[in-house]
Amino acid sequence: MYLMVDLRAAFVSIPRSIQWMSCRRSHGDLFLKDKEWMDLLKWKTGWKDKTVIVQGFGNVGSFAAKYVHEAGAKVIGIKEFDVSLVNKDGIDINDLFEYTEEKKTIKGYPKAQESKEDLLVAETDILMPCATQKVITTDNAKDIKAKLILEGANGPTTPSGEKILLDKGVLLVPDLYCNAGGVTVSYFEYLKNINHVSYGKMNSKSTSELIIELMNSINESLHECPDSQLPNICPNKKLKRIQQCTTEADIVDSALQTVMESAARGIKEMAHKFELCNDLRRAAYVWSSFKIFQAMESSGISQQ
Ligand SMILES: NC(=O)c1ccc[n+]([C@@H]2O[C@H](COP(=O)([O-])OP(=O)(O)OC[C@H]3O[C@@H](n4cnc5c(N)ncnc54)[C@H](O)[C@@H]3O)[C@@H](O)[C@H]2O)c1
Repeated sequence: MYLMVDLRAAFVSIPRSIQWMSCRRSHGDLFLKDKEWMDLLKWKTGWKDKTVIVQGFGNVGSFAAKYVHEAGAKVIGIKEFDVSLVNKDGIDINDLFEYTEEKKTIKGYPKAQESKEDLLVAETDILMPCATQKVITTDNAKDIKAKLILEGANGPTTPSGEKILLDKGVLLVPDLYCNAGGVTVSYFEYLKNINHVSYGKMNSKSTSELIIELMNSINESLHECPDSQLPNICPNKKLKRIQQCTTEADIVDSALQTVMESAARGIKEMAHKFELCNDLRRAAYVWSSFKIFQAMESSGISQQ
């Protein structure tokens, strides 16, 4: 997979703007929308009013913060290497984007306070370590207050730190799932380059949306038509939007959603099957191994 990321530079074929739009999604999203996972934390589903602290305001952290802010969560803290910003009412991330575009730093942002507190262990619902590796360790894991951790960075949690978190009942969505959006889009790019897209993968979600809206349009047209007349079937607003907006960005975004939804389902299935409870990393590894095994078996490669 990393080879494919490197290949991006050589064979760019999905524009950067589309890549960032797709990758900015926080794929923890699917866990927050899942009632079973949220029941485990005794939370309601969704982002609304949940408090979030983000470590790192670079490529990953800034877009993840923007996404969760727009989804209704309150980003109450941002920890950078030189400053930590807090605002208990929530930081307006779009406003902070404008500030950082000009100043190239979050330092001095006037609508939040600077804090000396270590935000990794501060009071919050959700922690998103999006800066660098090995920041959650045996030294601080026991003091972490967040009940949900979304690993935006690669390897932010050490194995021994993770064990402490799991024992405390924390739900940790691991990096190999949570930050896989970028690598997945690079894979689409690779497929596009070799012109070898697996059938239906790139547009299966937009096709199913199209079918649903087609049926809705027929239904709505039938409802609006007086009994005595033949119905005049017209596309509804959503179908018109789909007709007009199936751009490459829409296709990449919907293909990414399909892949991430399938992986989230797989992780859940393995967690149930092997009674892994909140150990999502192990469930993700089991699911990945299972998929590799399936691919080998279906291609006739011997397992011996
Ligand atoms: N960029 C990608 O496509 C991508 C995809 C998946 C995973 N990742 C991983 O996400 C992490 C961040 O990548 P990025 O592309 O956003 O990098 P980046 O350099 O754009 O951003 C990292 C940010 O974190 C800050 N930072 C670094 N160390 C810190 C610390 N100890 N405390 C607080 N802030 C700190 C930096 O100042 C910077 O603003 C890395 O682990 C990377 O491997 C990146």
